[in-house]
Amino acid sequence: MKMEKLIFATKNKGKIIEIKEIMKDLPFQIVSLDEAGIDIDIEENGATFEENALIKAKTIMELTGSLVLADDSGLEIDYLDGKPGIYSARFGGVNTSYEIKNNKILDLLKGVPKEKRTARFVCAIAAVYPTGDTITTYGTIEGIIAEKPSGNHGFGYDPIFYVPKYQCTTAEMSPEQKNAISHRAKALQKIKEKLKKGIK
Ligand code: IMP
Repeated sequence: MKMEKLIFATKNKGKIIEIKEIMKDLPFQIVSLDEAGIDIDIEENGATFEENALIKAKTIMELTGSLVLADDSGLEIDYLDGKPGIYSARFGGVNTSYEIKNNKILDLLKGVPKEKRTARFVCAIAAVYPTGDTITTYGTIEGIIAEKPSGNHGFGYDPIFYVPKYQCTTAEMSPEQKNAISHRAKALQKIKEKLKKGIK
């Protein structure tokens, strides 16, 4: 039986491994943008994580006619009124290292007590069908901004994102542990359940 193709609109190799693992029992052939032979830069000009995920998924669906999934994620810090939020990748400059971005956040939160350092990683995932029908889901993981960076796993803001429940930063977790509890894993699980319902 020929499986329906599902394109996950990302160039990130880590994300594609994670999604293939989570979706492995669905009857789709999951491919990344690279594997689909698509090289495109999409302007993420939405006002929310959901809008940005939908913009990416819609653009690739219109290009390919396939079922497409896309995600958008970031870090919301309550003390900074939800910043960097949808600007997480661009915070402090597109080409600035995460060492600099993380230190900038630590500076902005200097002297702020633990109870006011609450934050969350957020992930929205959108699915756009060739018919134009759409589904979106949302996942979060709650934490606090640490006083200093720790851990070398993960990427981005992981070294400063401390999860009280596990008493470590997401950069101190193994990839398996983080993938089991992350914002992206939660949003992916939810969209998997919704996609399952749409299979005839
Ligand atoms: P995007 O969804 O790939 O555009 O990612 C947005 C940005 O959010 C990333 O570049 C990171 O700065 C941040 N981010 C999203 N998820 C995570 C995570 O799991 N750990 C650390 N940083 C993250």
